[in-house]
Amino acid sequence: MCGIVGYVGYRDCAGVLMDALSKLEYRGYDSAGIAVFDKGEISVAKSKGRLADLAEKMEKTGKPEGNAGIGHTRWATHGEPSDINSHPHSGERVTIVHNGIIENYKVLKDFLVKEGRCFKSDTDTEVVAQLLDYYYDGDPIATIAKVTRELEGSYALGIVFADFPDTVFAIRCESPLIVGIGENESFIASDVPAILKYTRNYYLLEHDEIAVLSRYSTSIYDLHYNKLNKELKTADWDMDAAEKGGYEHFMLKEIFEQPTAIKTTITPRIVDGLPNLEECGITMEKLSSYKQIFVVACGTAMHAGVVGRYVIEKLARVPVNVEIASEFRYRDPIVSEGDLVIIISQSGETADSLAAMRLAKKLGAETLAIVNAKGSSIAREADMLIYTHAGPEIAVASTKAYMVQIAVMYLFAFEMALAKGMISEDECRRLTSLLQQTPDTIEKLLEHKETAQYIASSLINADSLLYIGRGLDYALSMEGSLKLKEISYIHSESYAAGELKHGTISLIHDGMPVIAVATQSALFDKTISNIKEVKARGAKVVIVCRDSYNPDTDVADHKFGLPDEVEDLLMPMAAVVPLQLIAYYTSVLRGNDVDKPRNLAKSVTVE
Ligand code: F6R
Repeated sequence: MCGIVGYVGYRDCAGVLMDALSKLEYRGYDSAGIAVFDKGEISVAKSKGRLADLAEKMEKTGKPEGNAGIGHTRWATHGEPSDINSHPHSGERVTIVHNGIIENYKVLKDFLVKEGRCFKSDTDTEVVAQLLDYYYDGDPIATIAKVTRELEGSYALGIVFADFPDTVFAIRCESPLIVGIGENESFIASDVPAILKYTRNYYLLEHDEIAVLSRYSTSIYDLHYNKLNKELKTADWDMDAAEKGGYEHFMLKEIFEQPTAIKTTITPRIVDGLPNLEECGITMEKLSSYKQIFVVACGTAMHAGVVGRYVIEKLARVPVNVEIASEFRYRDPIVSEGDLVIIISQSGETADSLAAMRLAKKLGAETLAIVNAKGSSIAREADMLIYTHAGPEIAVASTKAYMVQIAVMYLFAFEMALAKGMISEDECRRLTSLLQQTPDTIEKLLEHKETAQYIASSLINADSLLYIGRGLDYALSMEGSLKLKEISYIHSESYAAGELKHGTISLIHDGMPVIAVATQSALFDKTISNIKEVKARGAKVVIVCRDSYNPDTDVADHKFGLPDEVEDLLMPMAAVVPLQLIAYYTSVLRGNDVDKPRNLAKSVTVE
């Protein structure tokens, strides 16, 4: 979704803003703009399209020169992507950038129109700019506080007032915002990668805190003008984490980072060969007490929950419901005290997941967040928290975050099974050591990326395809299918292989690709029978299975082999790698913008 940046210091502000915005491109956007104090006046440049379009425009019209300003990448919600609807938006003396949605913008707009105000754009954001202008009485903080009391919805705002040159104001409610602190310079940004080139020190702005940035000092206030003393945080990511580092795309880099991400995530949570989640607030006593678990998340994170369900139910024998957050929050779920609700989220800011977590807390359940982004809203509000240490995930399509989410689900399931007395300590140790071996397995699988590339070349002209599997393989099919469709734009569905005959098999026609995941020994023969059924009806089958299985021509056309020594239970960690690579190469071969697929945003902060 939208990205916000702001800068006050000694550097060329437009350059810093454009550079910082480029680090937020992953969030998804369709237009961009900046506002800079140029010789004391606010100068705005904005354009529909990519940052390159904005840069080209500024080359023609002249780049604003100065050392303080704000910038924005817009993901359209109110009003089409256009130059006019791009941010920044201005009143007479106030110019702003905004991430979020103002839910009561219509009422506010009607009021302002009655008061004689004219609007140029269709956006909710311009209403905020005009309202700030309407109430402005020479005191920026009092004005911001007054206006935000009237706003309903979510917002992170970067604001400049014409009367206060070289000063940037910021406030947030729901939407994320950090304040970066360098030497004689400061920043605002929607996410840490935007500022890493300049500083690793930052404050996390909390709800309704107002930041005032000037060159030599940065202060943070509450709405009543009290100056706050906040803890300065240091990002533990370095610049390289937010760069492509020689890879053609962030997605490929992130797929290759998976072995390291798993190690970094699980190693600190394994003590004496056993999972230990105590530092995350999860004790054996608690684990033994839960009677029912809900896993609530969206998209890929929800798919990680589906893998978790199979593993927890199999080992710990505790019922697990996996739910799409946007459904869970509105369906009056039967959740109560004694239940555990696990929220999985890479960004920690997904609006539906956050709302689902708040609902679960209200209903009396304990909440556990599995989150990648440090200090994000979900991380801060959960009762218990396991950070996944995947580092920044820049590609919109999630890969390494999914991998570490499932790694954490395994650790959790092992420890819960032990706590419930469903497995012995020796078995728990054995399973934990198998999990520790997965980075090496993945490392070896990545050496076969050309096989995935070859398979992808057979898919690029397809209009539609199916992913099928049973059990854990079905869980994987869901993720494989989502990954492929979101970046290749080829329609794709995942189906439980045994369900095909109940309708979907009628879609199969000559040459239609079907990707079959068949790694689970107990279900293998049944899956093969289902594969033969589609093959007999003309499907072109790609099978992801163990190395030792050599499919006949009545089963598959292509095979991606997985190491035989991996146990069924741990297979998802291996099997997802070819599915990610197949999706990646299909997108590359179709000439798509792999890291920034159309219409998608990395951090979905609206419902
Ligand atoms: C797909 C993808 C999305 C996210 C979903 C949830 O590749 O990335 O489906 O998984 O939007 O996002 P988070 O994990 O940030 O809550």
